[in-house]
Amino acid sequence: MTSITPFPTERTVVLTGAASARGIGRAAADRLASEGWSIAILDINAEDAKAAAAEIGSNRAVKALGVGADVSDAASVDRAITEIEDALPPIVALANLAGISSPTTFMETTVEEWDKVFAINMRGTFIVSQRVLKGMIERKLGRIVSISSISAQRGGGTYSKVAYSASKAGIIGFTRALAREVGEFGVTVNAIAPGPIDTDIMGGTLSEERKAQMSEGIMMGRVGTREEVAALIAFLLGQDSGYITAATYDINGGLQVS
Ligand SMILES: NC(=O)c1ccc[n+]([C@@H]2O[C@H](COP(=O)([O-])OP(=O)(O)OC[C@H]3O[C@@H](n4cnc5c(N)ncnc54)[C@H](O)[C@@H]3O)[C@@H](O)[C@H]2O)c1
Repeated sequence: MTSITPFPTERTVVLTGAASARGIGRAAADRLASEGWSIAILDINAEDAKAAAAEIGSNRAVKALGVGADVSDAASVDRAITEIEDALPPIVALANLAGISSPTTFMETTVEEWDKVFAINMRGTFIVSQRVLKGMIERKLGRIVSISSISAQRGGGTYSKVAYSASKAGIIGFTRALAREVGEFGVTVNAIAPGPIDTDIMGGTLSEERKAQMSEGIMMGRVGTREEVAALIAFLLGQDSGYITAATYDINGGLQVS
């Protein structure tokens, strides 16, 4: 039987893909900082990662570090996580948020594009999780949340197409299978599947007209906000969610069943 390891007062959350100013990751980093976490932002855009960490660190008076790394590259991730481990308190939580969209129709999709989408959205989640899990397993405590999408469940229908949907469907199987392996070490692994959220990933900042179009069929009559997704991420990474694992949380305003 396992026992519950309490959260240390000083603890770090690593967020991949949290550099973009209008992205979900950035909102999640801000929310988690407000709850006292030390923040590590790992993003391919090193400059923005450092700037975001500096701003969050000073606004929220927490330790924060921004590191440039490509999640699809194991050596780059290893360097970044080593830097984070050396500079910040123990890593208790990981949010796998780095991702790219892919609006290309199936018959137009090249093998190169397919591989790139999978390399970042799926392989990146594997690489970062495996690297961060070493410490979590040792300390017998960890929380991992990875981001799938309603595109995985409904087969696209918002912006991205087959390659993206398939890569995000992979996240759900990854989550369930990994949760099975690491539960005995006190590590929970969950996924969230957002519907359309007001960020820049769907081909740039959404106009009011596009948001209105996207809102059709959504029970709540609007697209979601970054802050709403950030709140769910913070809950699943928090101390109180220790008995939630292998789950995929829908956050889509009801679009999944409408
Ligand atoms: N916005 C939505 O409607 C929506 C819905 C469902 C799922 N998602 C997922 O949420 C996640 C965050 O998306 P967002 O909407 O905040 O978009 P975003 O474009 O603002 O954020 C994506 C971030 O990932 C980073 N990134 C891209 N490639 C990377 C790499 N190789 N290594 C490290 N970092 C990399 C980018 O620099 C950026 O900061 C993505 O995985 C996306 O697929 C978004």
